[in-house]
Amino acid sequence: MKAIVYKKYGTPDVLELKEIDKSVPGENEVLIKVYAVSINDWDMGLLQGDIINRLLNGLLKPRIKILGSDIAGRIEAVGKNVKKFHNGDEVYGDLSGSWGGFAEYVCARENALALKPNSMSFEEAAAIPQAAMLAIQGLHDKGQIRSGQKLLINGAGGGVGTFAVQIAKLYGVEVTGVDSPGKLDMMRSIGFDHVINYKLEDFTKNGKIYDLILDVKMNRPIYDYTRVLSRNGTYVTVGGSLVRLLQTLFLGPWISMTSKKKICVVALKSNKDLDYINELFETGKVKPVIDGTFRLDEVPKALRFFGSGNHKGKVVITVEHN
Ligand SMILES: NC(=O)c1ccc[n+]([C@@H]2O[C@H](COP(=O)([O-])OP(=O)(O)OC[C@H]3O[C@@H](n4cnc5c(N)ncnc54)[C@H](OP(=O)(O)O)[C@@H]3O)[C@@H](O)[C@H]2O)c1
Repeated sequence: MKAIVYKKYGTPDVLELKEIDKSVPGENEVLIKVYAVSINDWDMGLLQGDIINRLLNGLLKPRIKILGSDIAGRIEAVGKNVKKFHNGDEVYGDLSGSWGGFAEYVCARENALALKPNSMSFEEAAAIPQAAMLAIQGLHDKGQIRSGQKLLINGAGGGVGTFAVQIAKLYGVEVTGVDSPGKLDMMRSIGFDHVINYKLEDFTKNGKIYDLILDVKMNRPIYDYTRVLSRNGTYVTVGGSLVRLLQTLFLGPWISMTSKKKICVVALKSNKDLDYINELFETGKVKPVIDGTFRLDEVPKALRFFGSGNHKGKVVITVEHN
């Protein structure tokens, strides 16, 4: 099978398209013919080898050599203990932990997968797992979003933000999105009530107050965010700068103890809400925003595009089979 392989940490230039042996599923695994895979920030971290990802994937060189977690495809073979799926089933899911999605075939544990609705394309399915789970878990589980609230999403035009706004609008929430100027038209078109170009306007200094903030970037100190939270407001971050994340983990409990404001950090529960997102998709309430698509041999180009920050929504790769 063809796969995009890396043997050392670095830029997308270290990635190579190789012909390698097709994976064989274990007893609890299925073999998936991959039709689409999307790019996540985590792929970039593992490629570049920042300190956290070196701790996960090898200090000096990467242990897992094929990146790509959010895949969609068709099951080609099932291990003898697999109960949920059969050959021919169309599935999707987040394989972070085992990875291997930038390839024509990948093996996965059955609990990492959900059935793909017929009306959902493989590209749409591949766009969903990590970004939509972070959006749902940020808004519902941590943010406890409620009707009538004012929500601000920082870093709103990428993967998480484009799912989050569609989910938030189901609650009758007023949503403001902050991102770069090239994404604002797209953001308005998918439901943002207000958009802020961060290059021109600082949302922490314009006098507006929010009940809930969903942060994808963490590009400011925590007190900048709490200043624009309402008295009982909640700040939820899904990630971003490591230094700011540590600051938030350290100061968050203190802020929550000394005020009525809540500070929350999402720890992704992979694939937990795929059934819910299937329901939202099938009833026309949520549709992934997709940039691309790229071919498998163009994964390095797709990663450079993702790294430039210019993508809108999710960057997706279509895997063709001859
Ligand atoms: N909590 C967990 O367990 C977990 C697990 C996996 C991933 N994550 C995190 O989830 C996040 C992934 O989010 P995503 O997929 O939505 O990323 P994304 O697609 O890269 O979107 C981020 C957006 O933020 C914008 N942006 C950049 N600088 C900004 C600024 N100063 N102010 C406002 N917006 C800015 C970017 O656009 P421009 O570059 O054009 O400005 C981009 O549109 C990452 O932070 C990752 O670390 C967390």
